[in-house]
Amino acid sequence: MSDPRPQDLCQSVLAPPARVSIFITLTIREGAEGAAVAALAQLPALKRSVGFREPEQQLSCVAGIGSRFWDRAYPHLPRPAHLHPFIPLEGSKHSAPSTPGDLLFHVRAMRFDLCFELVRQLRLALGDALESADEVHGFRYFDERDLLGFVDGTENPEPPVDDVVTTLVPDGPYTGASYVIVQKYLHDLTAWNALSVEDQERVIGRTKLDDIELPDDVKPSNSHVALNTIEDADGTQRQIVRDNLPFGNVGEGEFGTYFIGYAADPDVTEEMLRHMFLGNPPGNYDRILDFSTAHTGCLFFVPPADLLENPQSFAAAPDDPSTASDTDPTPADGSLGIGSLRRSGSK
Ligand code: HEM
Repeated sequence: MSDPRPQDLCQSVLAPPARVSIFITLTIREGAEGAAVAALAQLPALKRSVGFREPEQQLSCVAGIGSRFWDRAYPHLPRPAHLHPFIPLEGSKHSAPSTPGDLLFHVRAMRFDLCFELVRQLRLALGDALESADEVHGFRYFDERDLLGFVDGTENPEPPVDDVVTTLVPDGPYTGASYVIVQKYLHDLTAWNALSVEDQERVIGRTKLDDIELPDDVKPSNSHVALNTIEDADGTQRQIVRDNLPFGNVGEGEFGTYFIGYAADPDVTEEMLRHMFLGNPPGNYDRILDFSTAHTGCLFFVPPADLLENPQSFAAAPDDPSTASDTDPTPADGSLGIGSLRRSGSK
């Protein structure tokens, strides 16, 4: 039998764009790691309980695990190769802060009540393991537009091939895993709306009404699209899959874009962020930042679905030294110092 494919092992990273999302980044109380891991193991069943009643609403939930929490909760498992805390950036004018985040839940559905109910159940499951949470309610705004009025998401890699290659770890013990970066941006709509439509189009790099990319000789080098179109050494475009949504509280004046970007290697998203905040070349920063301020920044590992329910099945197998890898952990007590990774069949 052939090995399972990344798309058979992943969480619902590739769920189609939904009408509503709840994005929660949260921290877990010191000492409550076991309770949080137990709550994560309940996630698939909770999702089934809430989603089964309304299948056409396409409820899905992706759980991500932050770097510090990984070490606290899964010390017996090998560290995912690219897991590290979000790297803060300090540009000449704008900065991208790194903020706390042990876990991320990206809950999507066509209707808000399902998202709400799943998050309510999740919070009950976490109980007092939960220390603090930043919960953002995102909504689809007219024809896929952000609050700046531009269609957001057009150039995402397409299913069913490009999105898989872009987002999912292709092989190794964590086949089907992904990495996700989230940032909460607040917009200064007063300043933005003071620009003419033509000037706004030069900030984004696309036309506003029709969503057509500006020609290269018109598109400024500090436009959002120019700075986020990146290539590797052999000219292949480096991509991420985004599922940003607008959010906001009109009365409080706190509204903006919740950025979420999935990639098989977070270095792709990080290169885009360096271009945006530090500039490419340095100093030529993304003009969108003059109207959008990043208030949070977190990076998470999105394990294969099976790891949430059965973390033990991913542990090193001490009876099989022949396939020991240099990524195997060497715990202080030496108990699992040798062995390969073994997991039970796919989900
Ligand atoms: C204030 C937050 C943001 C807003 C409002 C925003 C909005 C947009 C819009 C309107 C487009 C053009 C249409 C499209 O292809 O989706 C776009 C493209 C894009 N954005 Fe953003 N974005 C934001 C943050 C980010 C961040 C933080 C990243 C990466 C770290 C990013 C990466 C990209 C990429 C890769 C493209 C497609 C470029 C191309 O190939 O044409 N965006 N964004």
